[in-house]
Amino acid sequence: MELIIVSNKAEGSKKAFEQIIAAKNSGAKVFGLATGSTPEGVYQLLRESDVDFSDCVSVNLDEYVGLAPDNPQSYHYFMKKHLFDDKPFKASYLPDGLSDDPSSYEEILAAHPIDLQILGIGNNGHIAFNEPGTAFDSRTHKVSLTESTIQANKRFFEKEEDVPRYAYTMGLASIMSAKSIILMAFGEAKQDAIYSLFNDQASTDIPATILQNHPDVTVIVDKAAAAKLTNV
Ligand code: GLP
Repeated sequence: MELIIVSNKAEGSKKAFEQIIAAKNSGAKVFGLATGSTPEGVYQLLRESDVDFSDCVSVNLDEYVGLAPDNPQSYHYFMKKHLFDDKPFKASYLPDGLSDDPSSYEEILAAHPIDLQILGIGNNGHIAFNEPGTAFDSRTHKVSLTESTIQANKRFFEKEEDVPRYAYTMGLASIMSAKSIILMAFGEAKQDAIYSLFNDQASTDIPATILQNHPDVTVIVDKAAAAKLTNV
Protein backbone atom coordinates (compact mmCIF):
# COMPACT_ATOMS: atom_id res chain seq x y z
CA MET A 1 0.00 0.00 0.00
CA GLU A 2 1.26 3.45 -0.84
CA LEU A 3 0.78 5.98 1.96
CA ILE A 4 0.38 9.70 1.29
CA ILE A 5 0.17 11.98 4.32
CA VAL A 6 -1.26 15.44 3.70
CA SER A 7 -1.85 18.43 5.96
CA ASN A 8 -5.62 18.46 5.78
CA LYS A 9 -8.76 17.18 4.07
CA ALA A 10 -8.62 19.86 1.35
CA GLU A 11 -5.13 18.76 0.31
CA GLY A 12 -6.10 15.08 0.51
CA SER A 13 -9.20 15.67 -1.60
CA LYS A 14 -7.08 17.39 -4.24
CA LYS A 15 -4.66 14.43 -4.36
CA ALA A 16 -7.53 11.95 -4.78
CA PHE A 17 -9.15 14.21 -7.40
CA GLU A 18 -5.89 14.29 -9.38
CA GLN A 19 -5.62 10.51 -9.25
CA ILE A 20 -9.19 10.11 -10.49
CA ILE A 21 -8.50 12.44 -13.42
CA ALA A 22 -5.23 10.62 -14.18
CA ALA A 23 -7.02 7.26 -14.10
CA LYS A 24 -9.73 8.57 -16.41
CA ASN A 25 -7.12 9.97 -18.81
CA SER A 26 -5.46 6.54 -18.84
CA GLY A 27 -8.70 4.88 -19.91
CA ALA A 28 -10.56 4.05 -16.67
CA LYS A 29 -14.26 3.69 -17.46
CA VAL A 30 -15.79 2.22 -14.30
CA PHE A 31 -15.53 4.12 -11.04
CA GLY A 32 -16.44 2.64 -7.68
CA LEU A 33 -17.81 5.42 -5.50
CA ALA A 34 -18.32 5.90 -1.78
CA THR A 35 -20.52 8.06 0.41
CA GLY A 36 -19.89 9.66 3.81
CA SER A 37 -18.21 12.94 4.65
CA THR A 38 -14.76 11.76 3.54
CA PRO A 39 -15.25 11.93 -0.26
CA GLU A 40 -17.36 15.12 -0.23
CA GLY A 41 -14.37 17.33 -1.04
CA VAL A 42 -13.37 15.13 -3.97
CA TYR A 43 -16.90 15.27 -5.36
CA GLN A 44 -16.90 19.04 -5.03
CA LEU A 45 -13.65 19.25 -7.02
CA LEU A 46 -15.11 16.95 -9.68
CA ARG A 47 -18.30 19.05 -9.84
CA GLU A 48 -16.25 22.21 -10.31
CA SER A 49 -13.99 20.66 -12.95
CA ASP A 50 -14.63 20.16 -16.63
CA VAL A 51 -14.36 16.37 -16.39
CA ASP A 52 -16.98 14.53 -18.41
CA PHE A 53 -18.16 11.16 -17.11
CA SER A 54 -20.83 10.64 -19.77
CA ASP A 55 -18.86 7.72 -21.23
CA CYS A 56 -18.23 6.17 -17.80
CA VAL A 57 -20.14 3.97 -15.38
CA SER A 58 -20.28 4.34 -11.61
CA VAL A 59 -21.05 1.67 -9.04
CA ASN A 60 -21.56 2.55 -5.42
CA LEU A 61 -20.56 0.56 -2.40
CA ASP A 62 -23.70 0.45 -0.32
CA GLU A 63 -27.20 1.63 0.60
CA TYR A 64 -29.39 1.59 3.70
CA VAL A 65 -32.11 -1.04 3.72
CA GLY A 66 -35.61 0.44 3.53
CA LEU A 67 -34.69 3.88 2.18
CA ALA A 68 -36.13 4.87 -1.20
CA PRO A 69 -33.84 6.66 -3.67
CA ASP A 70 -35.64 9.97 -3.09
CA ASN A 71 -35.19 9.77 0.69
CA PRO A 72 -32.74 12.58 1.56
CA GLN A 73 -30.86 10.21 3.91
CA SER A 74 -30.37 7.56 1.24
CA TYR A 75 -27.04 7.09 -0.48
CA HIS A 76 -28.84 7.40 -3.84
CA TYR A 77 -29.85 10.92 -2.83
CA PHE A 78 -26.36 11.71 -1.49
CA MET A 79 -24.74 10.74 -4.79
CA LYS A 80 -27.23 12.74 -6.87
CA LYS A 81 -26.69 15.81 -4.75
CA HIS A 82 -22.90 15.56 -4.45
CA LEU A 83 -22.06 14.38 -7.95
CA PHE A 84 -24.56 12.95 -10.42
CA ASP A 85 -26.81 16.01 -10.84
CA ASP A 86 -23.79 17.96 -12.08
CA LYS A 87 -21.69 15.17 -13.52
CA PRO A 88 -23.93 12.46 -14.96
CA PHE A 89 -22.43 9.08 -15.83
CA LYS A 90 -23.61 6.90 -18.72
CA ALA A 91 -25.05 4.67 -15.98
CA SER A 92 -24.87 4.85 -12.20
CA TYR A 93 -25.64 1.85 -9.99
CA LEU A 94 -26.24 1.54 -6.26
CA PRO A 95 -27.71 -1.37 -4.33
CA ASP A 96 -31.51 -1.04 -4.18
CA GLY A 97 -32.47 -0.32 -0.58
CA LEU A 98 -36.05 -1.39 -1.26
CA SER A 99 -35.27 -4.81 -2.70
CA ASP A 100 -35.51 -8.01 -0.65
CA ASP A 101 -32.34 -9.51 -2.01
CA PRO A 102 -29.24 -7.50 -2.92
CA SER A 103 -27.30 -10.40 -4.47
CA SER A 104 -28.17 -9.42 -8.05
CA TYR A 105 -25.88 -6.40 -7.56
CA GLU A 106 -23.02 -8.83 -8.15
CA GLU A 107 -24.26 -9.27 -11.75
CA ILE A 108 -23.91 -5.51 -12.22
CA LEU A 109 -20.39 -5.61 -10.77
CA ALA A 110 -19.48 -8.54 -13.00
CA ALA A 111 -20.72 -6.65 -16.07
CA HIS A 112 -18.79 -3.53 -15.01
CA PRO A 113 -15.45 -4.47 -13.44
CA ILE A 114 -14.23 -1.54 -11.38
CA ASP A 115 -11.14 0.28 -12.63
CA LEU A 116 -10.79 2.63 -9.66
CA GLN A 117 -12.53 2.26 -6.30
CA ILE A 118 -12.81 5.18 -3.85
CA LEU A 119 -13.10 4.21 -0.19
CA GLY A 120 -13.50 5.85 3.18
CA ILE A 121 -13.05 3.94 6.41
CA GLY A 122 -15.21 3.61 9.52
CA ASN A 123 -13.86 4.35 12.99
CA ASN A 124 -13.89 0.59 13.66
CA GLY A 125 -12.03 -0.21 10.45
CA HIS A 126 -15.08 -1.05 8.33
CA ILE A 127 -15.04 -0.40 4.60
CA ALA A 128 -18.32 0.16 2.77
CA PHE A 129 -20.64 -1.39 5.39
CA ASN A 130 -18.49 -4.47 5.99
CA GLU A 131 -18.41 -4.49 9.76
CA PRO A 132 -15.83 -6.35 11.88
CA GLY A 133 -16.29 -10.11 11.51
CA THR A 134 -17.28 -9.94 7.82
CA ALA A 135 -15.70 -12.79 5.85
CA PHE A 136 -12.92 -11.83 3.46
CA ASP A 137 -14.66 -13.80 0.68
CA SER A 138 -17.96 -11.92 1.11
CA ARG A 139 -19.89 -10.58 -1.86
CA THR A 140 -22.82 -8.14 -1.86
CA HIS A 141 -24.94 -8.90 1.21
CA LYS A 142 -27.19 -7.53 3.94
CA VAL A 143 -25.54 -6.34 7.15
CA SER A 144 -26.71 -5.45 10.59
CA LEU A 145 -24.94 -2.19 11.47
CA THR A 146 -22.87 -2.10 14.65
CA GLU A 147 -23.57 0.32 17.46
CA SER A 148 -20.28 2.12 16.61
CA THR A 149 -21.46 2.74 13.03
CA ILE A 150 -24.96 3.80 14.11
CA GLN A 151 -23.43 6.28 16.55
CA ALA A 152 -20.99 7.60 13.91
CA ASN A 153 -23.70 7.99 11.26
CA LYS A 154 -26.46 9.46 13.43
CA ARG A 155 -25.12 12.94 12.69
CA PHE A 156 -26.73 12.69 9.26
CA PHE A 157 -30.19 11.99 10.75
CA GLU A 158 -32.60 14.05 12.81
CA LYS A 159 -32.92 11.42 15.55
CA GLU A 160 -30.81 8.39 16.39
CA GLU A 161 -33.92 6.18 16.01
CA ASP A 162 -34.07 7.25 12.36
CA VAL A 163 -30.71 5.62 11.54
CA PRO A 164 -31.49 2.40 9.65
CA ARG A 165 -30.24 -0.73 11.42
CA TYR A 166 -29.50 -2.63 8.21
CA ALA A 167 -27.68 -1.94 4.97
CA TYR A 168 -26.80 -3.66 1.72
CA THR A 169 -23.13 -3.55 0.92
CA MET A 170 -20.63 -4.80 -1.58
CA GLY A 171 -18.61 -7.48 0.17
CA LEU A 172 -14.90 -7.45 0.86
CA ALA A 173 -14.19 -9.75 -2.09
CA SER A 174 -16.31 -7.48 -4.33
CA ILE A 175 -14.16 -4.51 -3.29
CA MET A 176 -10.92 -6.44 -3.74
CA SER A 177 -11.88 -7.11 -7.39
CA ALA A 178 -11.28 -3.43 -8.23
CA LYS A 179 -8.12 -2.88 -10.28
CA SER A 180 -6.96 -0.03 -8.09
CA ILE A 181 -8.18 1.52 -4.87
CA ILE A 182 -7.83 4.89 -3.16
CA LEU A 183 -8.72 4.94 0.53
CA MET A 184 -9.03 8.30 2.26
CA ALA A 185 -9.22 9.06 5.97
CA PHE A 186 -9.31 12.45 7.62
CA GLY A 187 -9.50 13.40 11.29
CA GLU A 188 -8.56 12.06 14.69
CA ALA A 189 -11.46 9.59 14.88
CA LYS A 190 -9.77 7.50 12.16
CA GLN A 191 -6.39 7.20 13.97
CA ASP A 192 -6.91 3.70 15.33
CA ALA A 193 -8.32 2.34 12.09
CA ILE A 194 -5.38 3.75 10.12
CA TYR A 195 -2.91 2.41 12.67
CA SER A 196 -4.45 -1.07 12.33
CA LEU A 197 -4.53 -0.86 8.54
CA PHE A 198 -0.74 -0.54 8.46
CA ASN A 199 0.30 -2.46 11.56
CA ASP A 200 -2.13 -5.28 12.34
CA GLN A 201 -2.07 -8.61 10.61
CA ALA A 202 -4.87 -8.89 8.07
CA SER A 203 -7.90 -10.14 9.96
CA THR A 204 -11.67 -9.89 9.83
CA ASP A 205 -11.53 -7.98 13.16
CA ILE A 206 -10.50 -4.93 11.14
CA PRO A 207 -12.10 -5.40 7.70
CA ALA A 208 -9.91 -2.75 6.01
CA THR A 209 -6.80 -4.88 6.65
CA ILE A 210 -7.85 -7.06 3.70
CA LEU A 211 -6.46 -4.23 1.56
CA GLN A 212 -2.93 -5.31 2.58
CA ASN A 213 -3.46 -8.17 0.10
CA HIS A 214 -4.39 -5.90 -2.83
CA PRO A 215 -1.65 -5.00 -5.35
CA ASP A 216 -2.65 -1.37 -6.01
CA VAL A 217 -3.90 0.63 -3.02
CA THR A 218 -3.16 4.27 -2.27
CA VAL A 219 -4.03 5.51 1.22
CA ILE A 220 -4.43 9.28 1.58
CA VAL A 221 -4.60 10.51 5.18
CA ASP A 222 -4.28 13.81 6.93
CA LYS A 223 -1.89 14.31 9.85
CA ALA A 224 -4.64 13.75 12.40
CA ALA A 225 -5.59 10.35 10.99
CA ALA A 226 -1.88 9.44 10.63
CA ALA A 227 -0.98 10.48 14.18
CA LYS A 228 -0.46 6.93 15.50
CA LEU A 229 1.71 5.84 12.58
CA THR A 230 5.11 6.15 14.21
CA ASN A 231 7.01 4.08 11.65
CA VAL A 232 6.57 6.40 8.64
C1 GLP B 1 -20.28 4.76 6.30
C2 GLP B 1 -20.11 4.33 4.85
C3 GLP B 1 -18.65 4.08 4.52
C4 GLP B 1 -17.82 5.25 4.99
C5 GLP B 1 -17.92 5.39 6.48
C6 GLP B 1 -17.12 6.55 7.02
O1 GLP B 1 -20.36 3.69 7.16
N1 GLP B 1 -20.87 3.17 4.54
O2 GLP B 1 -18.51 3.90 3.12
O3 GLP B 1 -16.46 5.05 4.62
O4 GLP B 1 -19.30 5.62 6.79
O5 GLP B 1 -17.86 7.72 6.91
P1 GLP B 1 -17.28 9.18 6.95
O6 GLP B 1 -16.57 9.37 5.66
O7 GLP B 1 -18.48 10.07 7.07
O8 GLP B 1 -16.38 9.25 8.12
